Amino acid sequence: MEKRIGIVAFSLHLCITFALGDYYSNTRPYTPKQEVVTNLHFFFHDTLGGPDPSAVLIAKSGGHNSSAPSPFGSLLAADDPLTVGPDPKSEMIGNARGMYVSSGQHVPTLTMYIDFGFTSGKFNGSSFAVFSRNTIMDKEREVAVVGGRGRFRMARGVALLNTYSVNLTNGDAIVEYNVTLYHY
Ligand SMILES: *[C@@H]1O[C@H](CO)[C@@H](O)[C@H](O)[C@H]1NC(C)=O
Ligand SMILES: *[C@@H]1O[C@H](CO)[C@@H](O)[C@H](O)[C@H]1NC(C)=O
Ligand SMILES: *[C@@H]1O[C@H](CO)[C@@H](O)[C@H](O)[C@H]1NC(C)=O
Ligand SMILES: *[C@@H]1O[C@H](CO)[C@@H](O)[C@H](O)[C@H]1NC(C)=O
Repeated sequence: MEKRIGIVAFSLHLCITFALGDYYSNTRPYTPKQEVVTNLHFFFHDTLGGPDPSAVLIAKSGGHNSSAPSPFGSLLAADDPLTVGPDPKSEMIGNARGMYVSSGQHVPTLTMYIDFGFTSGKFNGSSFAVFSRNTIMDKEREVAVVGGRGRFRMARGVALLNTYSVNLTNGDAIVEYNVTLYHY
């Protein structure tokens, strides 16, 4: 019953907000809610080698003949586990799903299009989105957080990255993430 009243109220709200025939609402002042800040700390495991890789090649450029694990022009899909510690066997708390492209002609750089989602704790079901260059040759670097969903709705912020370990032959890497998120 309460649900039905809710639906009716919501439909009424939509009718009032969107006058019939228009695809937009009136522009009105917006008073944001109090913003909050959350810090997250975890480890990201990007595994390209071995029998069960968590990142796989989607496409690569034909014009480049470097022997690097992901030369300029390589596009990879990732479903990388996130854990509380650097040990891959430590507690898994989420996954990073999306893709990244090797986008540095001369200096290895990745541009990430990745959604970091959580599967346990207070933020189970919530995720934040990174769209940023990742200057992987710097041991410490920063990537931009551009959005979020669930409890991280409207998030923006930064993630400080620190390479914990990397295998330059196959590209496997474990990266520490220290994320600061401003959200509502
Ligand atoms: C590939 O790299 C080698 C060594 O750097 C170079 O000699 C060769 O010309 C390159 N081939 C192409 C097709 O770019
Ligand atoms: C996380 O949320 C999913 C979906 O609601 C639920 O099935 C799962 O049990 C939750 N996991 C934990 C560890 O709370
Ligand atoms: C790095 O990757 C290569 C190729 O897969 C493998 O032979 C080597 O054992 C790896 N090194 C370490 C330290 O895991
Ligand atoms: C994470 O970054 C914040 C802000 O730079 C810093 O104060 C904090 O010490 C860092 N924590 C870890 C575990 O790296």
